[in-house]
Amino acid sequence: MKLQRAQYQNFRNHSFLTFEPVDGINLIHGRNGSGKTSLLEGIHYCALTRGFVSTNDSECLAFKKDYFLLESTFLSETESLLTVKLSYTKEKEKQIIVNNSEIKPFSRHIGTIPCITFSPPEIVIVNGAPGERRRFLDNAICQTNRRYLNDLLAYRRVLNQRNALLLQLHDNQTVHKEMLPLWNETLARLAASIVHTRVQFITSFFDRFKEIYGQLFAEESPGISYRSSLGKIDTSTSVDNLYSLFIRRYEDTQRREIFRTQTLTGPHRDDLIFLLNGNEIKKYASQGQLRTFLIALKLAQHRFFYDTLGEKPLCLLDDIFSELDSSRIADIFVILETCGQSIITSTEKKGHNNITQFSIEYLKTKVS
Ligand SMILES: Nc1ncnc2c1ncn2[C@@H]1O[C@H](COP(=O)(O)OP(=O)(O)O)[C@@H](O)[C@H]1O
Ligand SMILES: [Mg+2]
Repeated sequence: MKLQRAQYQNFRNHSFLTFEPVDGINLIHGRNGSGKTSLLEGIHYCALTRGFVSTNDSECLAFKKDYFLLESTFLSETESLLTVKLSYTKEKEKQIIVNNSEIKPFSRHIGTIPCITFSPPEIVIVNGAPGERRRFLDNAICQTNRRYLNDLLAYRRVLNQRNALLLQLHDNQTVHKEMLPLWNETLARLAASIVHTRVQFITSFFDRFKEIYGQLFAEESPGISYRSSLGKIDTSTSVDNLYSLFIRRYEDTQRREIFRTQTLTGPHRDDLIFLLNGNEIKKYASQGQLRTFLIALKLAQHRFFYDTLGEKPLCLLDDIFSELDSSRIADIFVILETCGQSIITSTEKKGHNNITQFSIEYLKTKVS
């Protein structure tokens, strides 16, 4: 997937800007606060309907403006052209139009423009709370597997409904007690499918991860495993098996769940465990090791997307080189040369063959 052109209006600090990247590696350089992250953020909006740095749309609206508009053109490997027009106003919220038709719900757009990101705050994937790792996992699978995305959306809905019922039961509104086994069944079916897909994904993802990690940081041996709130499961645990395990667990923990008014078992409570030489990375690793682990995760995600979709995803890499020594940077460039189109930001220019450099200040003054 290639971005041919991105146009920004009133998006963060860009009142009007056009960016036309080339194939291969694009490096955008400029001082802090000049708008490099914002430029990547706009592309991410067009690819995945939201930002990877900002948490909400209104934050991206330029101060004192009443709308923002992003217009991008992408070209897929099969040469089909995709134009994405994303607009936002406070009154009408967000609207996304792809090739002249409006997309609703937004989840329909996920997977159309595969995209990977790197940004320093994403270090929380490696050392933060389990929810951060689940988000990484779900993002990676959703972009390549529509059934998983639909299951996940349905799971969240049913989970909320079941939790609402637990709350009613907690408050002694026993009238609805017969509803619980029905919710258990629906939730267990979705949970089993989600967990099964995640475990299969990790096996296949890990092969690629190990290879990339070895290429970049050969000395250590990494590991990734899935920690299920069900206890011990592995790739040989079938969907039916998982379903039965969930049903049994809901039955066994019913009293505690009503007391806590929460569903205590399921994919929303699971975690990924990252290891280096057998030790859990978030407990023992240095800042440098955490960071390189994250880079390898993202590059492996790229490889997984390519192998699954036959399409190289767009790489949006924010400040990927900061705090890395020059030999690591050179190694990363070697990998990026095989990654299709990447758009990288940095506070300084980089001397390397095969990269096209853009000054953000120049882009900001150019009118087209
Ligand atoms: N909604 C907004 N409206 C106007 N300016 C904004 C908005 N959000 C952020 N900014 C400003 O945009 C500038 C560029 O931010 P950023 O893209 O993060 O820069 P860089 O990545 O180059 O350091 C910052 O000075 C920031 O304060
Ligand atoms: Mg930045």
